Amino acid sequence: MKGRIIIVDDDRSLREMLEIILKREDYDVIAFDSADSALDWLKINIEEVDVIISDIIMPKIDGISFLEKIKEINKEIPVIMITANTRVDYAIEALKRGAYDYVTKPFNNDELKIIIKNAVEKKNLESELMRLRSLIDNKQFPIIFSSKIMEDLYLKAISIAKTNSTVLITGESGTGKELFARLIHNESDRKNGPFFPVNCGAIPENLMESELFGYEKGAFTGAMSSKLGFFELANNGTIFLDEIAELPLTLQVKLLRVLEDRMVLRLGGKSPVPTDIRVISATNKDIEELVKNGDFREDLYYRLNVVRIKIPPLRERREDIIPLSMHFLKKCSQSHNKTIKGITKDATSFLEAYDYPGNVRELQNIIERACVFETGELLGVGSLPLEILGSSKTTDLTNTKAEDVVFSNFNLDKYMEDIEKKIIEKALEETKGNKKDAAELLGISLWALYHRLEKYKK
Ligand SMILES: Nc1ncnc2c1ncn2[C@@H]1O[C@H](COP(=O)(O)OP(=O)(O)OP(=O)(O)O)[C@@H](O)[C@H]1O
Ligand SMILES: [Mg+2]
Repeated sequence: MKGRIIIVDDDRSLREMLEIILKREDYDVIAFDSADSALDWLKINIEEVDVIISDIIMPKIDGISFLEKIKEINKEIPVIMITANTRVDYAIEALKRGAYDYVTKPFNNDELKIIIKNAVEKKNLESELMRLRSLIDNKQFPIIFSSKIMEDLYLKAISIAKTNSTVLITGESGTGKELFARLIHNESDRKNGPFFPVNCGAIPENLMESELFGYEKGAFTGAMSSKLGFFELANNGTIFLDEIAELPLTLQVKLLRVLEDRMVLRLGGKSPVPTDIRVISATNKDIEELVKNGDFREDLYYRLNVVRIKIPPLRERREDIIPLSMHFLKKCSQSHNKTIKGITKDATSFLEAYDYPGNVRELQNIIERACVFETGELLGVGSLPLEILGSSKTTDLTNTKAEDVVFSNFNLDKYMEDIEKKIIEKALEETKGNKKDAAELLGISLWALYHRLEKYKK
């Protein structure tokens, strides 16, 4: 289906004809014979609609008043008006009041199809923009913590957000560096400008300069037209230079110049372009060590490190583990339509004791996987991956579980099978898929392993 179209016209033959034409074009069509019946329906279902087509001259509520009422419910939906070709003045009036376009009777079918196609595209584009805007909204990126150290960092981030200072965020992988960068942007006066993340480690070195600073037509063979670089695209907003330590030395010089005079010179360009940008950079490397070894320019380091946000690894703020777990569990249960209400006491102890080399990202993965596996009302030890159970690997797994089991929707065979499956997966992972070695690790015959794998296939 290409989109849902609402038709409102008191003329039955016209309504039916439109319906046939549009359904043939693979649109979903709902037709109404009056504006008030359409309005009753739209008040509840407007989110499901892509385009509305309405006649102008109708008894009771005419097309123009109908248009105004639609705009009160939702400003974004494109409304196309139908008018007799002798009364184009009505259509002009409708355009003034926010109609998207108009068609005259009798229709030119091709013209009608193009107008509708464009209207649907416009609507989709706007929905996408709305979605992106809502992503920028802080509520979509809540920063969860309960440790004092994170509270201090959070307050620091918010207070520096209002200034224009350049910020360097450091911390191990998965500690939330990008999350903080977004927070700073969203709390700043630039929040309506772009937040432009650039992964300096992911762009090939030979393209980096033209990507960052853009180029003029003819700057090199193949430069058929000029192109804006990331710095110009991020104008009036924030550029987030992630993995800044990966920036080659040649580009470090150029970045330093941009930071010093806030001007960008496109490749092959003659005069630099002024830009208004806040720079936030991040790295999980020990940047001071890189400076010491001459792998990162000291002068650039000082320019970037005006304000420093140093996010500690999760194992140094264990109070955050359970609040974060609950947050991920809630999100994950919602998206998987589950009703897992919490975490068992035993599982909590295991989660709190683990060291998380991958930090919050690793915890998030662990909880998401556990949430998918969990069949009970509480997330229990049985759903946690073996690496978390750590040294307790050798302890009697079934024993740990007995206290942990919640007898709701419980099925012992299914439960045992889940555990068995997970342990076999783990063995296969460790042996890189070698079944003979895996069988040995598991202490069962190769034949028994094959038998079980066959069983799981069903
Ligand atoms: N305090 C937190 N509250 C909620 N979610 C968090 C928190 N910290 C990190 N996350 C989540 O963990 C994941 C990793 O965070 P992020 O991408 O910001 O880390 P990073 O430090 O940039 O990692 P990398 O160095 O690997 O790029 C993201 O999904 C993020 O939303
Ligand atoms: Mg990151």
